Amino acid sequence: DPTRPAAPVGERISSLCATIPDYPKPGVSFKDLTPVFADAAALKAVVDALIEPFKGHFDAVAGVEARGFLLASAAAYAAGTGVITVRKAGKLPREVVAEDYTLEYGTATLELHTTDLAPGSRVLILDDVLATGGTLGATVRLFERCGVHVAGVGVVLEIDALNGRGALPGQQIHSLLHL
Ligand code: PRP
Repeated sequence: DPTRPAAPVGERISSLCATIPDYPKPGVSFKDLTPVFADAAALKAVVDALIEPFKGHFDAVAGVEARGFLLASAAAYAAGTGVITVRKAGKLPREVVAEDYTLEYGTATLELHTTDLAPGSRVLILDDVLATGGTLGATVRLFERCGVHVAGVGVVLEIDALNGRGALPGQQIHSLLHL
């Protein structure tokens, strides 16, 4: 029914998001947003909603490997900016800054090319999920070390119980759905 108003973006996400119990290991309840990305109307609504509060306040959009790339690329195209890739260690060929972060078991490393953005420029960082905040906390530090201002952080889904916001002090965080 084309006259029916579209559902708010949070409702669309929650109706399309799949929950997989005991994946990737027992006790973990995995939130799979690939059905949101696969739905044309939902993808557009999500990307538009992620950009909205930061319009006019960023010069580039960065995505965190791997699912963040999908959002950042679409958002950059929609906003008319370039897109920056924050990658797992060992993938970027030129000089990088690196930041370690804590995983449930052990640590991982994210890297950013030092010359991707000029000092003083403003970046909007996007990812699919904010859980413990380890990933996005490391990402913010990478840009700050390059003299880049973080205009904001946008995620499709925030798991409130894991307090990822605690790892992002002083950041404006825009989450489309809280679980
Ligand atoms: C997932 C997700 C976020 C991160 C959130 O990525 O896409 O990037 O975890 O968790 P955190 O807030 O506890 O750091 P994952 O590490 O599974 O990488 P992938 O997207 O390459 O699969």
